[in-house]
Amino acid sequence: MAETTLIDPFSEARLGPVVLRNRILKAATFEGMTGGNIVHPQLIEFHRRMAAGGVGMSTVAFIGVCPDGRGAPNELVVDDSNVADLGRLADAVHGEGAAVSAQIGHAGAVGAAAGMPGLSPSRVFSPLAMKRTQAMGAGDFDRIAQAFADTAERLAENGFDAVELHLGHGYLLSEFLSPRINRRQDEWGGSLEKRARYPREVVKRVRDRVGDRVALLAKLNMADGVPGGLWLDESVEFARMLEADGALDAIELTGGSSLQNPMYLFRGEAPIAEMAKAFPRYLRWGFRLAASRFLREYPFEETFFLPYARQFRSALSTPLVLLGGVTGRESIQRAMEEGFEFVAMGRALIREPNLINEMRDGRTRASLCIQCNKCMATIYKGTHCVISGQEGWGPEDLRRKASA
Ligand SMILES: Cc1cc2nc3c(=O)[nH]c(=O)nc-3n(C[C@H](O)[C@H](O)[C@H](O)COP(=O)(O)O)c2cc1C
Repeated sequence: MAETTLIDPFSEARLGPVVLRNRILKAATFEGMTGGNIVHPQLIEFHRRMAAGGVGMSTVAFIGVCPDGRGAPNELVVDDSNVADLGRLADAVHGEGAAVSAQIGHAGAVGAAAGMPGLSPSRVFSPLAMKRTQAMGAGDFDRIAQAFADTAERLAENGFDAVELHLGHGYLLSEFLSPRINRRQDEWGGSLEKRARYPREVVKRVRDRVGDRVALLAKLNMADGVPGGLWLDESVEFARMLEADGALDAIELTGGSSLQNPMYLFRGEAPIAEMAKAFPRYLRWGFRLAASRFLREYPFEETFFLPYARQFRSALSTPLVLLGGVTGRESIQRAMEEGFEFVAMGRALIREPNLINEMRDGRTRASLCIQCNKCMATIYKGTHCVISGQEGWGPEDLRRKASA
């Protein structure tokens, strides 16, 4: 069982081979600052500012491990042309006293709406792309596992302290776990053991390649939020398998499916009008058609994933990251009291990047984030809070910079 004595969230903490200045992580929130497969200066500034705001570690959001692993056209794939700039990003974050992580993954079926084949364990219908996805072929298994290891290694060689593997949100590795999506009848589908085989193999391949050069985390779905999807009975069992494999330094607990039930992972308002406007023209029709069914709303509650996350805490000794509706000091303290080693925060830090410093210095006022989720619609043009804006990387700034 994990240590449950009272822990100061603002004290140093070890995450695998890395020491963080505190236990608060900036969760991956896709920044939309990598169009053209370029690390735009705004991306560096985004993470420098999160670091200056006090987090222990900032997470660069979704990096595809290969071109067909992108979930949106403006997502980064690490290559010779951008790896040095990622190194500069790492330097900027370190300069502010924080560590830096990168979330890597293969978007699987989610990529179908972005013009990718939308590889998935079995063919599924993508309501956004209005087409069926492509099932993984024999050659894809090794190619994609290799791409995970290559990407993690390049990040480790270029200043990153941690790598987060995406095993959630209906992306490829979480699709393997889903009994609803993975209908394969070969060695990669069927029983939980078989559905778990590919994600476990990828995690082990990455660890074998990076060794102790970086901390390795997995962002894991506890529940897909769809009937017939992955749920606690199997996700806890899968987490036990990961623990037995011994390749991870921490597991960050999430839920929901970008393809089938995205609001499950956010809670709060569904920003349908804003999303429709932000979507590329060719997707708007499909989006509007699918939105009311697909963007089902759930009321927001502080630490909304805690009741599920507790199931993992009681079953595992692996360090755990509590995510989902952590917005204030009390929630952070509560997470520590319940035995979580870390918390991760997304929207509250988009709203107020300096929140952690202020809480450390005694702020009691609640977060200003109202979970309107309109930041979700800004991910195509530079992720920011539509209430506060973010000087330097709002849409107008990006347009001005692009035309300069
Ligand atoms: C604008 C935005 C972009 C996001 N992008 C990603 C992403 O690229 N990868 C990911 O795993 N989660 C992503 N998320 C989900 C967050 O990491 C987090 O799971 C979710 O916002 C719940 O945490 P919170 O209540 O602290 O915001 C995104 C969230 C937002 C608001």
